Amino acid sequence: MKLILKYLKPYALIVLAIVALTFIQVQTELTLPDYMSRIVTEGIQYGGITEEVPLAVTAKDMDIILGFMNENDRNTVLAAYYPVTKGTKGKIDKQEVVFQEDVYLLSQDYLFPADVPDLTEIMRKPLVYAYLAEQNGMDLSKETDLPIGELEEKAKGLEDNFGSMAKLYNSALYARVGLSTQKIQSSYILSSGMIMLGIAAIGVAVQMLSTYLSARTSAKIAAQMRRDIFEKVESFSSSEFSRFSTSSLITRSGNDITKVQQLIQLMLRMMLMSPIMGITAVIKVTRYPGISWLLIVAIGVIVCAMIVLAVFAVPKFEVIQKLTDRINAIMREFLDGILVIRAFNAQKREEQKFDEINSEFRRTDRFVSMVMNIMGPVMTLVMNGLTVAITWFSARLIDIDAMTIGEMMAFSQYAIHVVMSFMFVTVMFFMIPRSLVSVRRIKEVLDTKNTILDPENVKTLPAENGTLEFEHVGFRYPGAEESVLEDISFTARPGETVAFIGSTGSGKSTIMKLIPRLFDVSKGKISYCGLDVREVAQEQLHDKIGFASQKAILFSGDILSNIVFGRDIPEEDLQRAVRISQSENIVSEKEEGLHAPITQGGTNVSGGQKQRLSIARALAQDKNIYIFDDCFSALDYETDKKLRSALNELIQKTKATVLIVAQRIATIRNADKIIVLDDGKIVGEGKHEDLLKNCKVYQQIAYSQLSKEELA
Ligand SMILES: Nc1ncnc2c1ncn2[C@@H]1O[C@H](COP(=O)(O)OP(=O)(O)OP(=O)(O)O)[C@@H](O)[C@H]1O
Ligand SMILES: [Mg+2]
Repeated sequence: MKLILKYLKPYALIVLAIVALTFIQVQTELTLPDYMSRIVTEGIQYGGITEEVPLAVTAKDMDIILGFMNENDRNTVLAAYYPVTKGTKGKIDKQEVVFQEDVYLLSQDYLFPADVPDLTEIMRKPLVYAYLAEQNGMDLSKETDLPIGELEEKAKGLEDNFGSMAKLYNSALYARVGLSTQKIQSSYILSSGMIMLGIAAIGVAVQMLSTYLSARTSAKIAAQMRRDIFEKVESFSSSEFSRFSTSSLITRSGNDITKVQQLIQLMLRMMLMSPIMGITAVIKVTRYPGISWLLIVAIGVIVCAMIVLAVFAVPKFEVIQKLTDRINAIMREFLDGILVIRAFNAQKREEQKFDEINSEFRRTDRFVSMVMNIMGPVMTLVMNGLTVAITWFSARLIDIDAMTIGEMMAFSQYAIHVVMSFMFVTVMFFMIPRSLVSVRRIKEVLDTKNTILDPENVKTLPAENGTLEFEHVGFRYPGAEESVLEDISFTARPGETVAFIGSTGSGKSTIMKLIPRLFDVSKGKISYCGLDVREVAQEQLHDKIGFASQKAILFSGDILSNIVFGRDIPEEDLQRAVRISQSENIVSEKEEGLHAPITQGGTNVSGGQKQRLSIARALAQDKNIYIFDDCFSALDYETDKKLRSALNELIQKTKATVLIVAQRIATIRNADKIIVLDDGKIVGEGKHEDLLKNCKVYQQIAYSQLSKEELA
């Protein structure tokens, strides 16, 4: 988690913006049910009438209404209205009408009440009484004495609904004035609808913006992480590599980073959204105390389902990630070795290996998906059950007029929001550990300490050539039980060619790897120009060494890019490297010359060609030491010979030190010094002729390769 926060830090402002946007989005989403509730209640039930005080009343109706008032109120009301005679044109609430009867219109001052008395309280009861009388089929216009007692009786217990009854009655009053109630209603619904649309549009815009921001942020962070891993791995020495397998590193920088990216996006969207949404929705829901308890039941069901999930599925997440690693490993090995596998008809064996792991993966994955998939139906069930329950219980409340249909609809929407947010919060509790597995795997790589480091105070190597010296060097591979080198001491002076020979596994490559510090010695020391190689900066050390490894490695690109390898190399040096390494015919054979493409891993050139190109790479820059680890082995004798004599010329000129590892006596017989290795120890040192006389191991090698005449 700390790691994620560290990466999120530079984006603090954007995160803040996302929080603000989320807030706006929640507000817009949660005001919509209110509007819908109003459309249903006021728009549909009350015919779009929002005012309790009628804007226009026929004279006849006014008489009845006034009949329910005392002297005082009557005067107040009469002061608020002005009479208009039949046949006049007028405009009420944007509607043009020709009055069919004498009417009273509410004067403008009362439309936006300021200093005028509030008529609502005064008129409410009279309007309700008139409404109830009409509902009960009484014709009050004929009565001289209004049946107040009887109406009071009927109105008992309905006090909460007086407001809505007044509005309903207004609709009837307006119809009699000559207004089209249809128009009032549709204009109300239309205008509310437009507002809803507007709010929804804002919501959508805000949501799009915050989704975009969070997607962009998480993608950027993922890119940064990938970059950091890449850089870290680049700095790994061989011992760090042995801690992580190649395939694991690939999974970590691919699959795991994608998981983390998803997590960040989830955090920026859902983790912010759900609590804000949930809390706001809960506040809205508490306005309906009658049925809020339903929510608690629904949440209870969800919690139970989540606990089941937690117990069964979560522990499997890490297993899945490990299995992904192994599948990748097997797949990689299979692809690398596909030719050998075919040649040995070993497909069955490989298939079996793959099947085993694949079916284990399948079983685990299926189990996890199954448990996760149960959540979907459970959620649907809970949601639908909740909707039914809300309708059921609200129906009773609506029956006793404690709730309107619109309110019921709004409540069920809020309820769904509450349940959804709650669900998201819990889902996140499971998602997070799953992604944290990936975070931890990434962290492992990033936190790996390099074992081969530059010293704090680096010493500077002199520019001129110096002597390379091994003093009693011993070496053991990290994690290995036995030393592979023991007590190795030799010197290699400027202009000298030192050759190494010995059976396979005798430690020749290991010695070569110690010089550029691909590994550090376990015992003794290696020095160049009198300085321990561990005392100088690795970059400077590497700058002095031209290295051609035993396994020639080419990179995708072209011949030129493989030789130049990102360095600044003048044209003549390049040509010289191509000439000495005998790569001229490789280049001239190709139509595109130096720009001939090289595929990944150099699969489109032969083994010998690969070796020559990697030798060219080592020779392209003037170096003080050249190391050729058994890279003449795939060359034919003729090429080998030409290469060596060209190399000799170069060394005569530059006085560089050359170290050659070889299997063939012919390659090294002219070397200034030959070192014979056996089982990690030096068993002979000297010139070809001396060794032939007094070194047994060398003799054996020589006899197996050269004819008696050649040896003589
Ligand atoms: N990365 C490694 N980790 C552990 N042991 C290693 C590693 N590389 C080599 N070895 C061991 O070190 C010993 C010497 O290996 P090295 O590669 O130096 O031999 P070599 O003389 O170059 O052989 P060849 O002629 O086959 O190239 C071998 O026994 C080998 O098993
Ligand atoms: Mg070797």
